[in-house]
Amino acid sequence: MIRPLILFLFLTSFPVHAAVPKMDTFITQLMAKMTLEEKIGQMEQYTAEMAVTGNSIKGDYRDEIIKGRVGSILNAHGAKFTRELQKIAVENTRLKIPLIFGYDVIHGFKTIFPIPLGESSSWDLKLMEKSARLAANEAAAEGVHWTFAPMVDIARDPRWGRIAEGAGEDPWLGSRIAEARVRGFQGDVPGAQDRVLACVKHFAAYGAPIAGRDYNSVDMSERELRETYLPPYAAAINAGAATVMTSFNDIAGVPSTANEWLLTDLLRRQWKFKGFVVTDYTAVNELIQHGVAADEKQATQLAVRAGVDLEMQGGLFTKNVPALIKEHKLNRALIDKSVRRILEAKYKLGLFNDPYRFSDEQRAQPIVMARDKMEHAREVARRSIVLLKNSRSLLPLKRASTIALIGPFVDNQRDVIGNWSAAGDWKKAVSLAVGINAARAGQGKIVTAQGAELVDSKGSTDALINEAVTKAKNADVVVLALGEPEWMSGEAASRTRVRVPENQQALLRALHATGKPIVLVLFNGRPLALELENEMADAIVETWFLGTQSGHAIADVLFGDYNPAGKLTVTFPVNEGQIPIYYATKLTGRPFNAKSKYTSKYLDASNEPLFPFGWGLSYTNFTYSSVQLSRDRLRPGQKLKVSVTVTNSGARDGEETVQFYIHDLVASVSRPVKQLRSFAKIFLKKGESREVAFELSLEDLKFYNQAMKWTTEPGRFKVMAGGNSRDLKEASFTLIN
Ligand code: BGC
Repeated sequence: MIRPLILFLFLTSFPVHAAVPKMDTFITQLMAKMTLEEKIGQMEQYTAEMAVTGNSIKGDYRDEIIKGRVGSILNAHGAKFTRELQKIAVENTRLKIPLIFGYDVIHGFKTIFPIPLGESSSWDLKLMEKSARLAANEAAAEGVHWTFAPMVDIARDPRWGRIAEGAGEDPWLGSRIAEARVRGFQGDVPGAQDRVLACVKHFAAYGAPIAGRDYNSVDMSERELRETYLPPYAAAINAGAATVMTSFNDIAGVPSTANEWLLTDLLRRQWKFKGFVVTDYTAVNELIQHGVAADEKQATQLAVRAGVDLEMQGGLFTKNVPALIKEHKLNRALIDKSVRRILEAKYKLGLFNDPYRFSDEQRAQPIVMARDKMEHAREVARRSIVLLKNSRSLLPLKRASTIALIGPFVDNQRDVIGNWSAAGDWKKAVSLAVGINAARAGQGKIVTAQGAELVDSKGSTDALINEAVTKAKNADVVVLALGEPEWMSGEAASRTRVRVPENQQALLRALHATGKPIVLVLFNGRPLALELENEMADAIVETWFLGTQSGHAIADVLFGDYNPAGKLTVTFPVNEGQIPIYYATKLTGRPFNAKSKYTSKYLDASNEPLFPFGWGLSYTNFTYSSVQLSRDRLRPGQKLKVSVTVTNSGARDGEETVQFYIHDLVASVSRPVKQLRSFAKIFLKKGESREVAFELSLEDLKFYNQAMKWTTEPGRFKVMAGGNSRDLKEASFTLIN
């Protein structure tokens, strides 16, 4: 008799959803009461004025809420503000359906972590999961229910500014990072009070616009789409992502927002996605500009039919869906499905039980920018740094030396938090100068000079350079902080010259002429063409935009308090003419041969990048043994153990990212020369060795054959292991089907 009593007490004392019946029943009952207009209202989302993330702002969105014509608001945050807006929905509308608040929590909410491309360089999945969890933690405490992240668009063209928001060029690594970020944002079961719903975006292939120009067309083979671009979206959905955002671009002429194959056949039928689909900002309206809809009504019809559930900022569904239904151009059942999906998300968030569940000022205060967030911000920032070059072991710096700290990023706080920095306050960011001064602990001497503007707008370059040169001459070493301002990457920030701005390069040249050793500390949101910098700087430290703790993290690396371990997740070209450039290329019928004219190459540049995918140095060295295989014939159902012994052969303890690649040597379609299939991060004390193994199975060898079937073909395969995608040890085996 005791057990039922305990169960009874447990059930009655457990408040979540206690007031509302089970989800399906609840939603069915609610929908039975809804008019068509109220249903369509749930499919509309408008922006509040707290951030500008598109061309239009609808000033009267509050009136729309009162009229019950809004299901969601974006760009609203803060416990107080979201409570105020929620109150309008809950107290004024007939059915009191709460709003869902979405926001771009891309790399932190108030505590800002490195930009996603930078963070991906840590190759540390647990760390990235934690960043997403802590960002969710802060955002959820400030009224946000749902983040428009992770962005999982594979990008192989650094001209595209939004490369900053993704995880680089590799579909396999991108998929693992997508899963980690979804888990971090949402937790195990979507709806926890300290998490937010995730939104995988931008579906699909937004990262492959022709010529790297944002919003441009995408056109590629189905094999390339399925093998390279789609896997991270699928991985995020398998990891439970609650929502999907359509992309602005067309794929082979069909805009994603009107693409029934993409949003329904692939996403729902093949991938079994159960959540809701939101468009990108005014993407339904843009179907007219794309030239696939004659007017707003047709744009609405195309989007709803394709599988859009929620329209961001366009306001077209309210205007057009009723007439389209009346004219039998849209089916009511389709609308009901969309509304149900949106209501389900609200239910899972517990909003029918307590619409203010996430909007509690008391709760926010101890969470936001709390110690755990700040500590993590420093840890993830230093683990995201990539040491690109370190001639004659110039780094780490000696604390006792005189350092000329020069460049427009020395005192910079605004840019170091990067683009899409949510509700982050740049005034709270740690500048490089502050970080270095704290780290040197009174030893040595620091002299500083701005040296250059971020971009050459003020015409004062000469005076600034002269001052910097004078200071450099009296120093032991120059630490030169150069790069792109944050607005040069992110949305609508494509560049044809992916370089450090010219006026800053002039500063580099002048300092190089002094003969002083130069440590270049780079700030940027994309791979840059660093030919000049590589020639003139003795050491190059890639810091991306590291967020709130930027200066401390960089100082940790510069003085050797932390031994850098980041590795590039994207290729750095020698110059722009090589773009797109990535490691997983095909051989071609005339592979590069320096001695033969009629082979695949340039007359004026190498085929090789300046820094390959997976590249990153340490203050110690790692050596690799030959690759060992547990068998030389692999049959279906079997596993093949691939192992390599890695030795820390340098003078310091350090961390290495051991990478495993495969190559299918002969297949019915030409296969990439290398494809990442596994990696391991290992920490080795100096002199220590460790065997690192990876279990390869048939799954790792699959590809789309000529009939577009996902399969393997028997034959020889190469397996490679090493510390970057260029310098690899290899072995081979035969697959027997
Ligand atoms: C971007 C999306 C973003 C949305 C809302 C759009 O311009 O493409 O990534 O989530 O705005 O801010």
